Order: sequence, then structure tokens, then C-alpha cells
Amino acid sequence: MDKFVIRGGNPLLGTVRISGAKNAALPAMAAALLTDEPVILENIPQVRDIETTRELLAAMGAEVELGYGRAQHRTTICCRNLASPEASYELVKTMRASTLVLGPLIARCGRARVSLPGGCAIGARPIDLHIKGLERLGAKIVQEHGYVEASVERLRGAEIVFDKITVTGTEDLLMAATLTEGETIMQNCAREPEVADLACLLNKMGANIEGAGTATIRVKGVSKLHGAKHRIIPDRIEAATFIAAGALTDGDLNVCGCDPSHLDALLQKLQEVGVKTKHTSDSVRVEGNGALKAADVITEEYPGFPTDLQAQYMALATQAEGTSIVTENIFENRFMHALEMVRMGANIKIEGRRAIVRGKTQLSGAAVLASDLRASASLVLAALVAEGETIIDRVYHIDRGYENIEEKLRAVGAQIRRIGEILPRKK
Ligand code: EPZ
Repeated sequence: MDKFVIRGGNPLLGTVRISGAKNAALPAMAAALLTDEPVILENIPQVRDIETTRELLAAMGAEVELGYGRAQHRTTICCRNLASPEASYELVKTMRASTLVLGPLIARCGRARVSLPGGCAIGARPIDLHIKGLERLGAKIVQEHGYVEASVERLRGAEIVFDKITVTGTEDLLMAATLTEGETIMQNCAREPEVADLACLLNKMGANIEGAGTATIRVKGVSKLHGAKHRIIPDRIEAATFIAAGALTDGDLNVCGCDPSHLDALLQKLQEVGVKTKHTSDSVRVEGNGALKAADVITEEYPGFPTDLQAQYMALATQAEGTSIVTENIFENRFMHALEMVRMGANIKIEGRRAIVRGKTQLSGAAVLASDLRASASLVLAALVAEGETIIDRVYHIDRGYENIEEKLRAVGAQIRRIGEILPRKK
């Protein structure tokens, strides 16, 4: 149970390089299940969820080579011999995105047994829309003993209208539809850049997909897919986290290797708050200029303000003059970080799906607890401006989605170190 010890007060100065997107890499690795030929993925972030996905695929019989040294951000996956199309509870409970194997396994093997993910810190997060969509493509699905059991002769094209916009639901059905007989038309799809990146990979594998990145996606099924090589897009949430850190610490930070066109909602909000940013095709420079102004934010599906930035924005709002109302519309329980920030002296009131943040308040270092991936990132940001030392416990959450965050922060002037918990020696 590692912890971070952070001494606040240093402006972040210099350049930080962004890794590949976790939320694009996970579906891309699942897509390799659709073919018996090797799929080579580059710009894979070195985060724990990638390791969990490697274990998941290997347990089914896939050969998964995670690169190291100079090739450390490259993985080669070959699913020639899929012994058992099954995702166990042991793995799914550690990473709900494991359910992304459901669609590809049904399409490729005609059957799948995947554990239901269960509850999550940020909300109920059911997968009913994944199941409904697969049933529309003709899959027979039974849920028992905590597992989804699916079987089908051959999936058949159909029209799918998602009741609600779902990112991994869109990705799961998109992958299934590639090997489906006939045409599938999906409506009310997620438009996240990670969905478009997955479609780009699938088309390189021989799929016939149009409209990814829009609300309507058309897929003409093919009988077989082949291997391909693909570079994963940069992580827009990691980039945004560092941009927010630069603004919050009144620093001068160049965030490079990102795609600014994926960050419009954040960059517009920062302008409203009074933060100057300049960007090129693959970098954003953020220059703090003293006082931050309060501004409300409402989380929405892409291209709206991402829910995965809500916590980081809340940390910034504690340092803004005035009252910011943060409304969380995607997940029903995503304010755990607020109570930890209150322990550091922030003035935040929760009213249902709204958090009322009054600033500016001087934060003071304290012992705090991370509850999920983005909450832990927000506590790191709060600690960077707090007086004195903050100790963040359970940083294993942050390791799931941020590659070497403490090294990247230290390289631009943050006082941060990781301490490992010395486990008592077994008798
Ligand atoms: C993806 O999760 C991301 N994860 C999440 O990032 C992100 O927060 C979320 O999209 C929203 O942007 C990955 O891409 C691996 P959803 P996902 O299905 O697909 C409800 C991070 O920090 N819903 O778009 O699981 C659901 O409960 C993570 O990196 C159903 O009701 O999210 C939620 O309220 C956290 N039934 C809403 O839809 C379903 O079958 C959106 O969820 C599916 C979803």
C-alpha cells in the first residue's frame, strides 16, 4: 500500500511528456481477440490496468508480449489459440473494463463467459446496455452465478439505439459488429476520441466501419479480420491533469505529446477561469497568472466537460476567487475526493449531484485517502498547493491510470516521493 508524501508550494516549471491513453489502449488490446493474427500496439502506457489486461488475455490462451527497454510502450498480442473464452471474477473485479472482452469473444468464438463487474466507488455502473445490444445482434445471454454466459451461431446485423450514451458499451458493440453478418447501425453512440481510435485500429484489421466519433456508426460485417499495427492516441485526461496542475501552482508548464483538439472543453473552461494557454498541434503551454476566477462546470459526454476531469477541476476551484458549482451528471457517486479536500481546509458543500466550492481557501497538508483513480489525481493537485506536507494513502488507484506520475511531477519541480508500506514479516 504505497503512499505519496507531497510538500506543497512549488510552481511547476518545464516540460512534461504525455503517455498513451489508457482508455484507448484497453479496448485496442481487447480488439486483438477478433483475429488469429498478431496485433501490434504502440504508445501503450505503462500502467497497472494494462498489466491486468495482459493477465486477462493470457488466461484465455493469448500470447501477449509487453515490450520493455526502448520498446517498453509497445505490445504484441496474438490470439491464435483461445483455449477458454472466459474472464474470471478475480480479474474483472480489479478492472471493470475487462467487460470489453465480451463482444469480441462472442463474435470470434460464438460463446463467452464473463464475470459481471459488480459495484464501483463512483457508481453502480451496470453493463445492461452492452447485453441489450449483443442480444439485438442475436446473442443468447444468460446471467447466473455472477457471470454473463453468451452463445450464438453467428451474430446478425441490426439497428441498435443506446438508451444512454456509454463509452465501453459503444466500443464493445462496435467490436462485435465487425464480424457480424450484414450491416449494423448504432445510434446515440459515445463520441469520445477513444472510440474513434478503436475504429481506426479495427479498419486497419480489415473491418468496414463508418461514422466513429459521431453519434451514428455504421458497420458492414466481414467474415474475418487480420493483424495490424497501430499507435494509440495520447491520454487526454493525463494531459488535462498536468495542465490543471500547471494552472493551479501558478507555474509555466509545457505539456507535450498530447492532442489539444481533444481538450477543447477544458481549455475553454480554463480561459473562463483566467488561465492563459497556448497550444501547437501536439502541445499545450499553460502559464499561471495569479488569481483564478470561479466558474461553474457540468460534466457531460464528449465533447462536453469530461467526468474524468471533474475531481481535478474541483481542486482548482478551491483556489479560485468566488463560488464554483460543480455538477456531476455521469456518475452518481463521484464526490469522494471532496470530503478529503475538506480535511485539507477546502470549503465544499455537497448537495446531491452538485458540489458548491467556495474559494479561495488556503489548503493545509493532511493525511488523506484516495478512493478511485481520478480522485487520487485531484488529491495530488490539492497537495501541490497546500501548506506543509500531505500524505496520500492508497495510491495504487493512481498507478492504474497514470504512468510514473511522481517522476513526471518531480521533473518539473514538485516535491513528491513515494513511500512503500513495510508489511509485517509473516510468522
Ligand atoms: C468509460 O467508462 C471510461 N472507462 C471511464 O473512465 C469514464 O469515466 C466513462 O467512460 C465516462 O466518460 C474506460 O473507457 C475504460 P459509460 P464506462 O458506460 O464506459 C451508465 C477513468 O477514470 N451505463 O460511458 O464504464 C453508467 O452507469 C474511467 O479512466 C448504464 O447505465 O462508462 C454511467 O452512469 C472511470 N448501463 C453512464 O452510463 C450500461 O450498460 C456512462 O457510463 C453502461 C453504462
